[in-house]
Order: sequence, then structure tokens, then C-alpha cells
Amino acid sequence: MSNEVEKYDYEPFADTEEYKKVNSDIITTWIQIMIDKGTKSVDKLLDIATGAGTMVQLFFNLLPSNLKESAVLCLDQSGEALKLAQERLGKEIKKLNLINSQIQDMDLPDKSVDVALWGNGIHYLCEEEQIECLKRIKRVLKPGGMFFFNTAFYEEARPADTLPFYRSQVKNAVQYLRDKGIKREKTEKKAEAGKFLPRSHYESLVSKAGFSLVEAQEFAADLTKDAWEHISAFQQYASGALGGYPLEHASTAMKNAVGPAIQQHGEVDNSGTFFVTRNWLAISAQA
Ligand SMILES: C[S@@+](CC[C@H](N)C(=O)[O-])C[C@H]1O[C@@H](n2cnc3c(N)ncnc32)[C@H](O)[C@@H]1O
Repeated sequence: MSNEVEKYDYEPFADTEEYKKVNSDIITTWIQIMIDKGTKSVDKLLDIATGAGTMVQLFFNLLPSNLKESAVLCLDQSGEALKLAQERLGKEIKKLNLINSQIQDMDLPDKSVDVALWGNGIHYLCEEEQIECLKRIKRVLKPGGMFFFNTAFYEEARPADTLPFYRSQVKNAVQYLRDKGIKREKTEKKAEAGKFLPRSHYESLVSKAGFSLVEAQEFAADLTKDAWEHISAFQQYASGALGGYPLEHASTAMKNAVGPAIQQHGEVDNSGTFFVTRNWLAISAQA
């Protein structure tokens, strides 16, 4: 086991236009589903894996005004992330509660939550943990309550024609580390985010946990060099791609490797900007 402490460095990616756009498109459909399902009020909203608060902020902003009176519970295992969330959300959301816990240990009263969100985080858990956590979420939701989650780490997230980009990025990154004389330190369990479970897994997961699947939809996001550099520098992403290397170095290597890989394998838009498309899977379920 490494003693290295991961720093919370997801925020720069979450602040990119591409990230905010794809996630607000997803949330817009979730809110419409909630309304179509007859949701009249949201007393309590639970946001799982809040991070710096991007998802819950988008969700709250897009809620119709008659649904904005809700208390918001933000849960994350990272105290550092929750501090950022407090700074961002504190002014806008009057009834904000932070819960510093892993989702696996979430201990909220049964049938106390109207809507639960889990943005960009379910893929960190193994299949067994996912099912246990979904059962837990079902218990804390009121009957008929809605549960939404999304991920860009699933089998179909990387269209076949984009795979050369990833291969080339990792190859360039490993070369960079070799040139610097940085060696792999440890062999560790493959990061769960690197597992890329298929869409069908997530569709059946909700039913196995006792939810009704309402909708599964995919959204394509054209990520430009800046966005790829931010996500590649995110230490959890870099360690998923380059397991075993010291985190700081893996993160720098992955970031530096974006430029040549995107120029060689990316597509080019009308303004001459390189991009690589990534898919997001969005799931809506009802308790
Ligand atoms: C990629 S960020 C997503 C942040 C935000 N939900 C969004 O969509 O922009 C993932 C977050 O999940 C948190 N996280 C990872 N595993 C977790 C777990 N088992 N329980 C609670 N939080 C977890 C991390 O600390 C991080 O803040």
C-alpha cells in the first residue's frame, strides 16, 4: 500500500465548459423526468460524492422555483472537497448540510429523502459495493422518490474510433516517465474506475437493488485539449491509467501526453480545434 495522499484536484475539470454542458444537459432531462413522474415538492435532496459541488449546483439552479425550498445533504469521503462545496454552495443554498462519509457508511434515516443524485462517482466502487450502496439509497428514499446517477467510465464511454487517442496518450506518458528515470513503485489492485462496466450492467443494477429503471440515456461530449489535460492531471484518473507510478509524476506525464495524442488522433471542429468525443451514461430510477 502506498502512503501517498491524493490531493483533491478534480475541480479544474469540473469547471470546464464541456463538463458543465454535458452535465447540465443530463440534469435537464432528469428534472423533466422528475416533473413527469409527478414530483410536486422536494423537501430533502441528497447529493452523493459531491466533490466541489458542481452537480448539485447545476441541479439546484435548474430546478423550477417552486421546488427550490429543499434542504440539501452533500455527502463525500473527502473533507477537502466538502470545504470547497461549502464555499461554492453556502450562499445559494440556505439549508445545506455536509456529511463527511463514504457512501458505503451512509447512515441516514429510512424514507427521509425525496431525490438522490450520484454524479460522476459510482464507477469508483466495485460491483458488490455498488449493489449494496444502491440498496442503501433505496432505503433512505421515500417510496416513489427519484434516484439519478451518471458516469463517463463505462464500457461504451470510449467510442472505438477514439481508442487510438488513449493508447497513444498512455504510450507517450510512459515514455516521458522513462525519460525522467521514474519507475513503477508498486503493483496495486486495478482502480475500479479502470474497469469500465457496460451500460447493461448499470441498467440491471438498479432493478437488482429494487428500483424501477425509468430511463438510460447516453450523451456525447466533445472534449478539447484543455479538458483532457485537466482530467488527465486528476490524480485518480492518472493512477487508473498509469497504476503503480508515483501520483504526482503520473499526473504530470498524463497531462503532458495529451497534446501529441490529440493532434495525432483527435478530430477537428470548424474552428480548427482538436477534440475527442467521450460518452456519458445517465440513469434515472424510481424507488
Ligand atoms: C469525480 S468527483 C465527482 C464530483 C461531483 N459529483 C461531480 O459530478 O462533479 C468524485 C467524488 O466522489 C468522491 N468519492 C469517491 N468515492 C467515494 C465514496 N466511496 N464515498 C463517498 N464519496 C466518494 C470523491 O471524494 C470525489 O469528490
